[in-house]
Amino acid sequence: MTDTAVRPAAAERARPAHPLDPATAAEFLAGRDILAAAGLLGETARFAYYGLEEPPKHEVLGPAPGGPPERRLRAFLIDVATGESADVVVSLDQRRVVSRRVLDPASDGQVPIFNEEFGVVEEVVRADPGWREAMARRGLTDVTKIRACPQAAGWFGEAADGRRRFVRVLAFRQERENDYIWAHPVDGIAAYVDLIERKVFKIVDEFERPVPEEPGDYDDPAVRGPVREGLRPIEITQPEGPSFTLDGHLLRWQGWSMRVGFDAREGLVLHQIGLEDAGRARPVIYRASVPELVVPYGDPGFRYWQTYFDCGEYLLGKWTNSLQRGCDCLGEIAYLDGTLTDDAGTPQVIRNAICIHEEDFGILWKHTDVFNGSAQTRRQRRLVVSSWATAGNYDYGFYWYFYLDGTIEHEVKMSGALFTAAHPGGDSPHAAEVAPGLAGPVHQHLFGARLDMTVDGMANAVEEVDLTGLPAGPGNPYGNAITQTATRLRTEAGAARRCDSSRARTWRVLSTERRNSYGRPVSYTLYPEAAPVLLADPSSPVHARAGFATSHLWVTRYDPAQRYPAGDFVNQHPGGAGLPAYVAGDRDIDGADIVLWHTFGPTHFPRPEDWPVMPVARCGFTLRPTGFFDRNPALGVPAPPGHQAGGHRPAG
Ligand code: NI
Repeated sequence: MTDTAVRPAAAERARPAHPLDPATAAEFLAGRDILAAAGLLGETARFAYYGLEEPPKHEVLGPAPGGPPERRLRAFLIDVATGESADVVVSLDQRRVVSRRVLDPASDGQVPIFNEEFGVVEEVVRADPGWREAMARRGLTDVTKIRACPQAAGWFGEAADGRRRFVRVLAFRQERENDYIWAHPVDGIAAYVDLIERKVFKIVDEFERPVPEEPGDYDDPAVRGPVREGLRPIEITQPEGPSFTLDGHLLRWQGWSMRVGFDAREGLVLHQIGLEDAGRARPVIYRASVPELVVPYGDPGFRYWQTYFDCGEYLLGKWTNSLQRGCDCLGEIAYLDGTLTDDAGTPQVIRNAICIHEEDFGILWKHTDVFNGSAQTRRQRRLVVSSWATAGNYDYGFYWYFYLDGTIEHEVKMSGALFTAAHPGGDSPHAAEVAPGLAGPVHQHLFGARLDMTVDGMANAVEEVDLTGLPAGPGNPYGNAITQTATRLRTEAGAARRCDSSRARTWRVLSTERRNSYGRPVSYTLYPEAAPVLLADPSSPVHARAGFATSHLWVTRYDPAQRYPAGDFVNQHPGGAGLPAYVAGDRDIDGADIVLWHTFGPTHFPRPEDWPVMPVARCGFTLRPTGFFDRNPALGVPAPPGHQAGGHRPAG
């Protein structure tokens, strides 16, 4: 995951240039010193999370009578001897702890699972006599050839276990070093491991099925088959260099500007996205990220609990990949490193964590006019800011695209391995057979994006826009009428909305202060993909914990404490936190400083073609300017080289 430890001698300048710049190695060390001086870092203390506590928006945007906003760091500390966990904020400027709250496991849940815990689980289960016996019954006597796969426990109301910090551990066979474990699940058995006591406290042994034998190691030519021929090189060259500039974390391209950030929990974060239009700086989004991802599985059998909150339980940003030029990114690339820390709070750098480049994107606009003879073509291109993170078996790429016509797009690319089960043979309503005796269970990937909107300023409102056909009648005698209906979403409770593809439903974020030359509010429109929301039954525990995923849209009034769709503490949380709690006050959102939250992502019934490694599947959403400009903002894009000046006159 991380490749370089940062030594204090190499520390960056103490105070970053901008209040939204990510925490630096020097800052993490300074914060650790403050925590140590306060007596909070005993030998058994670990950092389950450590990152920048961003200043509130008004401190960043408003006048600063007292100088720049304070630099603060937030740490989730856990004592591995007692399990006591605390949410602590330190001020680097005041050099003191400014808040500390001890968590109550029964109501607050647990801090995220951290690296050391992933490491100890395998030792613990291999040493457990009950687990060894269960494996021996399956003919598996060499436990060094069984790999333990720890899973977030979730919360299912088990009163006795509710206060334990634990994981549920599944097993896979790995005969040889390079065996692909996902091909060989040892199914029907799970060990429940107490992470504080470091022991197995329960074994669930429900059934025995043969361990699937067919190997899945695609690095092995015998498994992969012959390498394809005939693919000649494609080279992307930009002989004059890229068209963007990167100054620290400030990125500029074709009128767009934004600040690129990084966090151990959220990964890639973009701030202060805006456009320069005729010399005027026009903000669009103050902060954009995907701070949660829940992956609930749909098999009601003994793995009913399989549900991952990849950000809240595992800190997805920590698992960010170091990207490689020529493999992950083509063309003229600028990389940004990501700085985070290990369990001891020691800074680590992920080299090339964020990739920034431009891509040709086909045709931007084109017209051959049969009346005036003009024939013009312009090419689209986009600025791409991306990163990849590996969440156990899955790999997720987060791509933000900015286009020449003012469009913003977010795309998640999903690849990696299916989380597999042994297949009893025959059809299963909840899984697809992907190799002999091996199944990929159905599941959902539900991403929660947080878009702190500032469309031409802080005073925004949201309209739900439906397109419908009208019944024939007076005013519509031939029944061809289609109309657009815009419904204002006035308060938070009423703004929990779902997609309706039969009405081409979109959500328009408009300024209540600025209008275009037609007298209409300037706006940006969210175009969703309209895939299903959470399919789990409303009575299910996951429904309570992943409440955010029960609506495609939420709108909240900006509150700096409301950052995570499923709440601050997700691991073993009983539910109700995050968006359902955020909107409980039903605040007014019309003409306010608002945050848009969008749930998106596929419901994945696996295919044999997803095995042994999935071709990338995509999901996401688009934001398009809607009356934000008075006309096509891309008329000034020059014709491509070789395009005849004045256009081609069509023949005839
Ligand atoms: Ni999937």
